[in-house]
Amino acid sequence: MMAAGKGTRMKSNKPKVLQMLAHLPLAGHVLEAARWVDARKVVVVTGHGAAQVESALSLLAGTLQLEFARQEPQLGTGHAVQTAAPHLADDAIVLVLSGDVPLTRGATLQALLHLCAGEHLALLTVNLPDPSGYGRVLRNGPSVTAIVEHKDASPEERSIQEIYGGILAAPALQLKQWLGRLDNRNAQGEYYLTDVVKLAVQDGVQVLAHRIDDPLEVAGVNSPAQLAALERAHQLRLAEALMEQGVRLKDPARIDVRGSLVCARDVEIDVGCVFEGQVYLGDEVRIGPHCVLANCSIEAGTIIQAFTHVDGESKGVRVGAGARIGPFARLRPGADLGQDVYIGNFVEVKNARLAQGAKANHLAYLGDATVGERVNFGAGSITANYDGANKHQTVIEDDVHVGSNCVLIAPLTLGAGGTIGGGSTITKDTPAGALTVARGKQVSVANWKRPVKGAK
Ligand code: UD1
Ligand code: CA
Repeated sequence: MMAAGKGTRMKSNKPKVLQMLAHLPLAGHVLEAARWVDARKVVVVTGHGAAQVESALSLLAGTLQLEFARQEPQLGTGHAVQTAAPHLADDAIVLVLSGDVPLTRGATLQALLHLCAGEHLALLTVNLPDPSGYGRVLRNGPSVTAIVEHKDASPEERSIQEIYGGILAAPALQLKQWLGRLDNRNAQGEYYLTDVVKLAVQDGVQVLAHRIDDPLEVAGVNSPAQLAALERAHQLRLAEALMEQGVRLKDPARIDVRGSLVCARDVEIDVGCVFEGQVYLGDEVRIGPHCVLANCSIEAGTIIQAFTHVDGESKGVRVGAGARIGPFARLRPGADLGQDVYIGNFVEVKNARLAQGAKANHLAYLGDATVGERVNFGAGSITANYDGANKHQTVIEDDVHVGSNCVLIAPLTLGAGGTIGGGSTITKDTPAGALTVARGKQVSVANWKRPVKGAK
């Protein structure tokens, strides 16, 4: 993978190949493609921002064997692959990829490897209505005879619409020999990888092209506008795949999936939703407009209403079947909601388990809590779980009814079936079945005269 370039036009302090597409660095997408074809190893050629690129990619490697080769200075694509050559086993097939070309399909790379078959030089090509800037593919029937870079091409060659997409597959031993014979006598004074084509032809090795239809597969990122265009194209692909599986999207142009979204049957997703990390939506789940769902599992039949924010981070969030969440609800890490739980507007739940049928319909906070079945948690009530240093647990047993505007100062247990009067500040455990009220008594002063303005 060539990843030494600077990416001047991004106008960013971050190396280009680490710019994000769907929450994954561009070069991370290329690693995914390498995973798809079961690469024996991936050699990454680094240069600009090498240390940063190497540490970011190491974190993404997983089971892939990654090796780095530093290219300093950058003398062209041929020189980049030369730098990687000592890492390549003679019996390997080498697939040359670019760290800034994120949308190549695994199946396309597989087809290119198949065409190479360990003996040919195989090039990925595509026809472009406007091929300017790219290397043109010169052919003699099915065989390619040369690639001519735009800057070196004659007017006649520039009229060729078939371009080299920047990806090739070659037998390693021969590729290494060709790389050793490259020179930089050309319009850019660079060592062109594309010159290996004529060297292969000289050696009697057939050069074949795998011509694809979709230019997106070879599209590189050079500017923020191109990055945004590829992000949209990638999202549209994901949306189409979801619809193919039966998911109903109100608008495939208005969904963003930045991770993995797994949907069961009859899932409906309204416009403007963002999915991050690992998200699972069960049968007949409905997601209203403008929700953010990250690292969570939503079980069958649950409805998530508009503008709800769910983020399980590393702990996850689970919402049981038949629940109703939102609009404007917030579920944070460790929220574990049972069947038929209702969470309404401006309710925040963190690290709390709510059993079947529990409800918190308006303006409430439940943190570090265990909430029993059918509990009703009133508007404006909160668990005061944090004393400034430590977090404490609140246990609310089955069938408790907490009135409005209560402060439950943890640690605390509210006994089953109890009622907490509105406006109470509760500091001690409350008995089962009882009404507990903890607030100033109401007083009325008869015939009260309000002060009058200007009176002495
Ligand atoms: C290259 C091809 C061109 C093809 C086009 C497709 C060559 C000579 N030309 O042109 O035929 O149509 O890709 O996009 O290969 N890089 C390094 N080290 C270097 C130079 C480049 O790592 O010394 C990396 C870049 O960061 C980039 C990739 O190689 O990821 C391709 O380089 P780039 O300069 O974009 O190639 P093009 O001039 O576009
Ligand atoms: Ca160049």
